[in-house]
Amino acid sequence: MRLFSFVFIIVSINAKSKSKYCDVVSSDPSKNCYVKETLTTIAHSPNQLSVDKTTNTLYFSFDFGQGEYVPAILNIESKSLSVLKGVKDAFAISNDPATGDMYFGGSHGIYKYSAAHKSLQRLNINNLDIWWLFIKKNIYFIKFPSLSAFYYENKTVRAVQELRGDIVHQFVLDKEDNIFFINGTGLFGIRRDHYRPVLLRDHPRFLGIATDNNGYVHVCSEDGIFVVTKIVQKVKKVINVQGVLGLTFDKSNYIIYSDSHEIVRLIPLARETYYDQIRGQ
Ligand SMILES: *[C@@H]1O[C@H](CO)[C@@H](O)[C@H](O)[C@H]1NC(C)=O
Ligand SMILES: *[C@@H]1O[C@H](CO)[C@@H](O)[C@H](O)[C@H]1NC(C)=O
Repeated sequence: MRLFSFVFIIVSINAKSKSKYCDVVSSDPSKNCYVKETLTTIAHSPNQLSVDKTTNTLYFSFDFGQGEYVPAILNIESKSLSVLKGVKDAFAISNDPATGDMYFGGSHGIYKYSAAHKSLQRLNINNLDIWWLFIKKNIYFIKFPSLSAFYYENKTVRAVQELRGDIVHQFVLDKEDNIFFINGTGLFGIRRDHYRPVLLRDHPRFLGIATDNNGYVHVCSEDGIFVVTKIVQKVKKVINVQGVLGLTFDKSNYIIYSDSHEIVRLIPLARETYYDQIRGQ
């Protein structure tokens, strides 16, 4: 980690002196420069945001008063913003990449929304307060206030066996269905069909977790965005931005993150583009 930080600083100084177009410098050699694009500046729920990749539409929620979170729909290209009516409390938001359907969860259970069919349906599960949602073949969720993990299949709610007994703040499944979760202790990984969580990293404090479009797991903290690398299950920082509370990925696999006051998309500039721009200065 020490060596890594050192390399990171060098890259960052180098790039800074060369270009004013770089808003954020990354240690990822394939994309070492990002331009920040502010998508919206509405105060929103920091918990979860998600993109319907079929239309490149961002869904997030904001406090409508009395602690009820209303879902907002933002067209990423046109920036047009609207509110989805009919969902009571959308604290948790997730997209089904297989269908493009959106799921919302909160103190009134789980809603499923198909933008293509303009249909909104509340799933028939009683007595459910949802803290977190993740869709991959099944509807996975974390119940509030117990913070325990379940999934919904064949109209039945079942415990996620691998996470039985764990306090889980947020979790995702990677490409191979390994489970990664964060809680107050740190970031844990559980190999598929194993039942023992392995602590991958306990600092900084991780606030958000998401998979990108290739199934790679990312986590965010107050001081940056990290990726869990495949081979050695190491967690390394790739982007140095402050105050990140939540993250997701758009259709092009560009990072979208939120902090306490805005939602930002990071557009990577390829090395060639970036040097071209400097030459053109
Ligand atoms: C779900 O229900 C269908 C029809 O009742 C059944 O064939 C299938 O085996 C069930 N799946 C699971 C995982 O229980
Ligand atoms: C986080 O989960 C691990 C693994 O189950 C557990 O040992 C730890 O106590 C949990 N931390 C908190 C703060 O709940």
